[in-house]
Amino acid sequence: MTQTPRSYVYIANWKMYFTFQEATAWVEQHGKQLEELAAQENAKIILAPSMSALQSITTHFQNTPINTAAQDCSDRTTGAFTGQNSARDIASIGATFCIIGHSERRTLQGDTDAAIAQKCSNLLQSGITPILCIGESAQDRASGQTLQVLQAQLSWVSSMPFISSTASIPLLIAYEPVWAIGTGQVPTLAELTTVFSWLKTIGLPSGTRLLYGGSVTSKTIASPKSCPLIDGFLIGGASLDFQEFKNLVHY
Ligand code: PGA
Repeated sequence: MTQTPRSYVYIANWKMYFTFQEATAWVEQHGKQLEELAAQENAKIILAPSMSALQSITTHFQNTPINTAAQDCSDRTTGAFTGQNSARDIASIGATFCIIGHSERRTLQGDTDAAIAQKCSNLLQSGITPILCIGESAQDRASGQTLQVLQAQLSWVSSMPFISSTASIPLLIAYEPVWAIGTGQVPTLAELTTVFSWLKTIGLPSGTRLLYGGSVTSKTIASPKSCPLIDGFLIGGASLDFQEFKNLVHY
């Protein structure tokens, strides 16, 4: 009897790498194979393109198992906020997930925990599942502060009204150490086990799924995949190349 593979979540975070043309060409070329891959591997695959391509990619994958995510949303609901995208707007084009709190936004755009909490609330009100990124810096890690930093980044979660019936997954949390993003460095299995075991004990909303992100490739995925506490992966650079993405899903 063949065993059904464990159901992992794979989020392709395309950041600001692709233009609209490049993102839609990727989907035209590989979309069918991506759907087949999701079915074969019993995987939940979520593509997070830039806003320009989100609508057309979401429409492309309508009525398929492939989901889409925005890479961020505004902490405001509507109004005079030039350059921002509301959770309502993201929901209106049919996307069902949204990344918040990515370290590139925390460090480069000054996103605070209070703003991230507000974004989370806006998303839940629009029926979108938040993908909340948390992670410590190299300095935090060196000074043994990892769990304290993660705890501070999650401090507001317990008071957020998660209504699990609005989505199949109420919340995704991606542990992405800042020092591992785009560097080729990944935590040891012992480090991952410490963080993910701790995450299991802190009373996160029921149904929360826990992901790892940071330099995930087909060469580095073995160790996080051997940790039974990890439900999936947030993948940046390696998700741009279809063959590489396929290899790491298939690993
Ligand atoms: P990376 O990025 O896979 O390129 O390290 C991950 C992320 O920032 O989500």
